[in-house]
Amino acid sequence: MKNSKKWSVFFRKSLARYSAGTFLAGGVIVGMVLWGGGVKVMEVTSSEAFCTSCHEMEANAFAEYKTTVHYLNSSGVQVECADCHVPADTLGKVVRKVEGLRELYGKVTGKIATPEKYEAHRLAMAEKVWADMQANDSENCRSCHVNFERAIEHQYEWARANHEIMLEENKTCIDCHQGIAHKLPKQNLRTKVLPKPTTPVL
Ligand code: HEC
Ligand code: HEC
Ligand code: HEC
Ligand code: HEC
Repeated sequence: MKNSKKWSVFFRKSLARYSAGTFLAGGVIVGMVLWGGGVKVMEVTSSEAFCTSCHEMEANAFAEYKTTVHYLNSSGVQVECADCHVPADTLGKVVRKVEGLRELYGKVTGKIATPEKYEAHRLAMAEKVWADMQANDSENCRSCHVNFERAIEHQYEWARANHEIMLEENKTCIDCHQGIAHKLPKQNLRTKVLPKPTTPVL
């Protein structure tokens, strides 16, 4: 009671002493610091180092992706975990971070702590990723493969034929390109819609 009275006197005195403009400026500065902090948190929690601080074990996501073209290629472009797994827009990022709490819980309870447990859980995890990518038309893939429709005519025959099917049948990247960064789950593979080339591939 006494304390709260003291505070209200303090606020009234302060209000009298400093103009509304000063408070506004102060508010803007505090806002900027919080915003900057938020951006920094987003940055750190999207870094490969952060992801692999958990996904580090042998024979799992990290080790597998290191053997693929998205990690090392002749163009020297490295695709990081977050490029494929964290949405580019701010709202999507925030949602992904909140979802990350489930991952933290999984870490604490050791859900994927051994290679056996990881393998047993792989299909369930992969299906989640597939469902997300199907729902958002593989937006993470498209954030890099931006000129895709124009690129089709420059592709070799098998790729081109499939991508024409993609346009005709309204398919999305993940419908066909599963298992591009990690091993595919052993159980219950989704049927790939890739027709085998009938003519020799150029
Ligand atoms: C605190 C440890 C931890 C960190 C940090 C972490 N993960 Fe995970 N991740 C897990 C665990 C545990 C699971 C399994 C959770 C489950 O299925 O309940 C998981 C599951 C996943 C899945 C499977 C699909 C899903 O949504 O469950 C993907 C994809 C994934 N993590 C990617 C990432 C990426 C990308 C990062 C960095 C931005 C990251 N993780 C950071 C522990 C972590
Ligand atoms: C951060 C940018 C980036 C993202 C995100 C990305 N890719 Fe790529 N992708 C590349 C680059 C760069 C190459 C070419 C590598 C090279 O030089 O061969 C490539 C190559 C490929 C290839 C050709 C592979 C090969 O063996 O030649 C396929 C298929 C592909 N990407 C599919 C995907 C799919 C599907 C996704 C989404 C799950 C995706 N990419 C996300 C940048 C990206
Ligand atoms: C209908 C199935 C299908 C869909 C949908 C599809 N692809 Fe492909 N894609 C293929 C096949 C088959 C190949 C040839 C085999 C290979 O190179 O992996 C291919 C090849 C590629 C290549 C290599 C091209 C080259 O000339 O070397 C890239 C890059 C690629 N796809 C990216 C994508 C992206 C990005 C999407 C979504 C916008 C997508 N694909 C959608 C089936 C598909
Ligand atoms: C080029 C895009 C791409 C990159 C880069 C990538 N992933 Fe994935 N990830 C996928 C796709 C697509 C799936 C869905 C399963 C599949 O098709 O292999 C997946 C699935 C997963 C899963 C579920 C388990 C599984 O094997 O299916 C985890 C966990 C995961 N990724 C973590 C990571 C981590 C950690 C990194 C960075 C070290 C990373 N991913 C880099 C595209 C990517």
